[in-house]
Amino acid sequence: MADKLLSRYQELKEQINFHNHRYHVLDKPIISDSEFDKLLNELKKIEEEHPDWITPDSPTLRAGGKPADRFNKVRHPSPILSLANAFGADDAHAWLERIKKIDDRVEKAKFVVEPKIDGLSVVLHYRDGLFVQGATRGDGEIGEDITSNLRTIKAIPLKIPISRELGVGNRKTSSQFPNLDSRIPKHLVVRGEAFIPIKEFEALNKKLEEAGERTYQNPRNTAAGSLRQLDPELTASRPITLLVYQISHCEGGKVPTSQWEILEYLKALGFPVSDVPKRFNDLEKAIEYTETWDKGRDQLPYEADGMVIKIDDLNLASDLGFVGKDPRGAIAYKFPAREVTTTLNDIGVAVGRTGVLTPYAILEPVEIGGVIVERATLHNFDYIAEKDIRVGDRVLLKRAGEVIPYVIGPVVDARKGKEKKFKPPTKCPACEQAVEHIEGEVAWYCVNSACPAQLIRNIEHFVSRGAMDIVGLGIKIVEQLIESGLVKDVADLFTLKKSDLLKLEGFAEKKADNLLRAIEQAKGDALSGSKGQSLNRFIAALGIHGVGEVMANDLARAFGNISALSKASADDLQQIEGLGPNIAESIVDWFKRPANQKVLKKLKAAGVDPQMQKAEGKKQGVLSGLTFVVTGTLPNFSRDDAKEFIESNGGKVTDSVSKKTSYLVLGENPGSKFDKAKSLGVKIVDEAGLKKLVG
Ligand code: IVH
Repeated sequence: MADKLLSRYQELKEQINFHNHRYHVLDKPIISDSEFDKLLNELKKIEEEHPDWITPDSPTLRAGGKPADRFNKVRHPSPILSLANAFGADDAHAWLERIKKIDDRVEKAKFVVEPKIDGLSVVLHYRDGLFVQGATRGDGEIGEDITSNLRTIKAIPLKIPISRELGVGNRKTSSQFPNLDSRIPKHLVVRGEAFIPIKEFEALNKKLEEAGERTYQNPRNTAAGSLRQLDPELTASRPITLLVYQISHCEGGKVPTSQWEILEYLKALGFPVSDVPKRFNDLEKAIEYTETWDKGRDQLPYEADGMVIKIDDLNLASDLGFVGKDPRGAIAYKFPAREVTTTLNDIGVAVGRTGVLTPYAILEPVEIGGVIVERATLHNFDYIAEKDIRVGDRVLLKRAGEVIPYVIGPVVDARKGKEKKFKPPTKCPACEQAVEHIEGEVAWYCVNSACPAQLIRNIEHFVSRGAMDIVGLGIKIVEQLIESGLVKDVADLFTLKKSDLLKLEGFAEKKADNLLRAIEQAKGDALSGSKGQSLNRFIAALGIHGVGEVMANDLARAFGNISALSKASADDLQQIEGLGPNIAESIVDWFKRPANQKVLKKLKAAGVDPQMQKAEGKKQGVLSGLTFVVTGTLPNFSRDDAKEFIESNGGKVTDSVSKKTSYLVLGENPGSKFDKAKSLGVKIVDEAGLKKLVG
């Protein structure tokens, strides 16, 4: 009996690690989040009964665990080297000339070009295939032991190869690398860069801003800070991932001897490896490729400050030796920095949807990386005070990737004495009401619900894509509607008349008709049977502090309509998993406010009162976490039917096929999406297959 349970336990561990790799490394999940959670829960239950069975590759250890008092020091078995910089093609040529003189083999050398990710360098130790220790680079000789923090990063395999049975492991590795021992080395030390992707960073900041909490300055510092603090649970809550690029040490086995093969080998073992690297026969081509990424760096999902050009032959690279801490066999070809100085002409204050006041820099226009920047974020008033940023200061400005430009700080030495300290406003800049501060938050708020600036943001949010999705209602029109007095709250949108719209500048018949049609679609119509926007979107559209799309989904499922939700107590609300006392309080408070009650009443009178659809409630979640693309004509479903079927079961439908697509739903006469899906190895199902997935 116990034997059977033990083998089930081993099997579960393998399966979970396998699916984790599909999701976090390959970006190609083949099961839904809820199926994954089911496996994990089964594993947890077994571990509760048999804690002695737990090994370092158990996925439950990724949750974090207790904070530590301090980090232990770790001596790296081989020095963790740095890189010399090259600023442009001339420097790169000079590097090649230098090393040609040292070794003749350089003449025929190949080069591998990789992205130079701006993150935190980490060193991962695997003994007998198990992840046993992880460290920071430190001074290159001694780093800090941050194993518990690193274990929370799902992209780091806890065991390599990921799994024999499931085909990612040894068999593939050994057939691909016939000259190597089929076993992996007893002690393998892998180096990589941990980072937060730009999109995840922005989403994190948005969430923090909406909760009135302090936002982070940039992805690099956030990733480094989250890994170099003592609470692994906090690390687990941050969207950190990593890419590896080097084996810095190996004992008891062999590894490939070219950089190109090292990348392939690491990938085959289950490590996340960038797909940007390429190998070239001469430096000229390598430089050309590097420069395409200088121009295209905004396309990279992470911040990169350059590319690394490496001699492919690692024996040659090692024989070339190093200068100080910089190996001669590689150089960092740096992109021009996207940091400039300019004058801070003034500080403006924007009022957000929830009334949060956010200061922004009004700058002397300046070019960074081909873009003219006139505005930049200043995060919050504490930030201005902490950095002592004064109006009139020369400030250092950074733009990285797609991140909104931000002011790093003042150039104190450039001060002339006329710079002025900034006083945060005591009144809202839009409506002049006194601003308030909530205990424990950094943000200041305008609490006047009739504030015109908030109203604009509120309506902008209400009609946005993730909410009521009213197409064609852009910010300009929202401003026009408010300025003309036609719209005083979101409910007024649903009673707009064509004759009113025609009085506005730029509105002709067609534009007015289109807008009114889009509004009608969001509202739905009982007579024609059109359903209008779903309850979860409607809840998300209300803009309740702390209630985003995911929470709105949970609320819709739990309460079924607005009337029930509006009567829920904080206790009722906290029955929902993941909904804590602060959000519960914020929801109760929102429904208590007379102004909100009035708007809800008006919305209902205008016919906006969505109810949870039965099907939505029943099967929600079976496809959650999966992304679908539909192509061709399906036998029974129209496009819209298929979309609704997938969405009502928790899946997502997108228009174009990418690596992230979980399934292509294939009908007759498919378009080019079919070819793309095949070339990317995306799973393909027909209509019947889609229905089967739901069961
Ligand atoms: S190779 C001998 N490759 O850049 C190997 N480094 O400025 C030396 N980095 O400390 C490092 N991406 O943290 C290498 N593809 C990459 C890299 C990379 C980022 C970092 C690394 C290093 C720093 C040097």
